[in-house]
Amino acid sequence: MPGRSPATAPAAVDVDALLADPGTRIVVCCGSGGVGKTTTAAALGVRAAEAGRKVVVLTIDPARRLAQSLGLTELDNTPRPVVDVGADGGSLDAMMLDMKRTFDEVVLAHSTPEKAAQVLENPFYQAVSSSFAGTQEYMAMEKLGQLRAEADRDGTWDLVVVDTPPSRSALDFLDAPKRLGSFLDGRFIRLLMAPAKAGGRAYLKVFSVGANIAAATLSKVLGGQFLTDVQTFVAALDTMFGGFRERADVTYALLKEPSTAFVVVAAPERDALREATYFVERLEAEGMPLAGVVVNRMQTLAAPGLSGSRASAAAEQLEDRADDADTTAPGPALTPALLRLHASLAEAATRHEGHVKRFVAAHPGVAVSTVPAAATDVHDLEGLRAVGAALATG
Ligand SMILES: Nc1ncnc2c1ncn2[C@@H]1O[C@H](COP(=O)(O)OP(=O)(O)OP(=O)(O)O)[C@@H](O)[C@H]1O
Ligand SMILES: [Mg+2]
Repeated sequence: MPGRSPATAPAAVDVDALLADPGTRIVVCCGSGGVGKTTTAAALGVRAAEAGRKVVVLTIDPARRLAQSLGLTELDNTPRPVVDVGADGGSLDAMMLDMKRTFDEVVLAHSTPEKAAQVLENPFYQAVSSSFAGTQEYMAMEKLGQLRAEADRDGTWDLVVVDTPPSRSALDFLDAPKRLGSFLDGRFIRLLMAPAKAGGRAYLKVFSVGANIAAATLSKVLGGQFLTDVQTFVAALDTMFGGFRERADVTYALLKEPSTAFVVVAAPERDALREATYFVERLEAEGMPLAGVVVNRMQTLAAPGLSGSRASAAAEQLEDRADDADTTAPGPALTPALLRLHASLAEAATRHEGHVKRFVAAHPGVAVSTVPAAATDVHDLEGLRAVGAALATG
């Protein structure tokens, strides 16, 4: 737009163009904890299905009521059709990620039934598969890879929308494959593997000379059974190591394709927008395509003409007058209370706008859209459609 600075005329994310483009095959909704990733992913899924796309949305820990309105009543790790959504040949399937089950599926798919059984029953595996830092992020990637492969193979879906886990940091999702890689490559695991490969003697030797303090300490704390579990686990997992890393690499590469679009969701607060900045910079550094930033839950006002300070002043005046009149009637107290509520909402609205303006000015090349805070949680299809419409109008 000639003559207009991007800081004063920020481009909104063109959500409808993005979703309508058959070249868009994956949309990833990411951002820090609690900002609205799951809501945005579900809203984009609904909107795309109603624009004629065949969509599957992968949600992670959706709130119960939202899950119910998407028809997700059981956690079975497979996509289910969402009824009453879709137009022009479009459809929506939704699923909730079951992290443990996805891990189990990987083990089952990449080893013999006997070895798989050995791994699945192993207490060390059970602990790692449900609590290793980054497992959820890694399994989300794994599932994304599976859904995309299924979409390519069967043509069931032409668009995969992915939600990301409620991590402390928005970057955890991108770091997960590397973290898993370094876990598998790590000294601890290598040491544990060595004896398993070389046989019992070497295994005993390594530990009896106390070559690794960490392992020795662990064996003391957790007992001999633990080491036997680890040894069995590692020996069995050994054959799968290549597969794990290879698939993480494939999915990582998929995220860099131009058919992928990242939507970074943020709250209109300083910390959340700072996280969004890290994420935007990281995506750029990794060569991953950013569609834009969605600033969710912006405070809007029913009476924008009345500023926060004027509302506060009016409330004070009314209260003073009420004191003078020495009235105890409940009626007059209500108006100052409402004025004060309005004042605090007006302040929030001004603060939110200020944060967004600063973010836009600092990132002139990044499309930014805002979504107003709804009066209640977004837990049904109507709510999702409203968020989708807000996303589309920017
Ligand atoms: N625009 C909105 N207006 C009102 N409520 C909203 C809006 N967006 C999200 N919410 C509500 O905020 C809460 C958090 O949203 P959501 O679960 O989508 O966030 P999240 O980023 O996925 O969180 P987590 O990091 O825990 O996974 C939910 O109760 C949701 O209904
Ligand atoms: Mg979520």
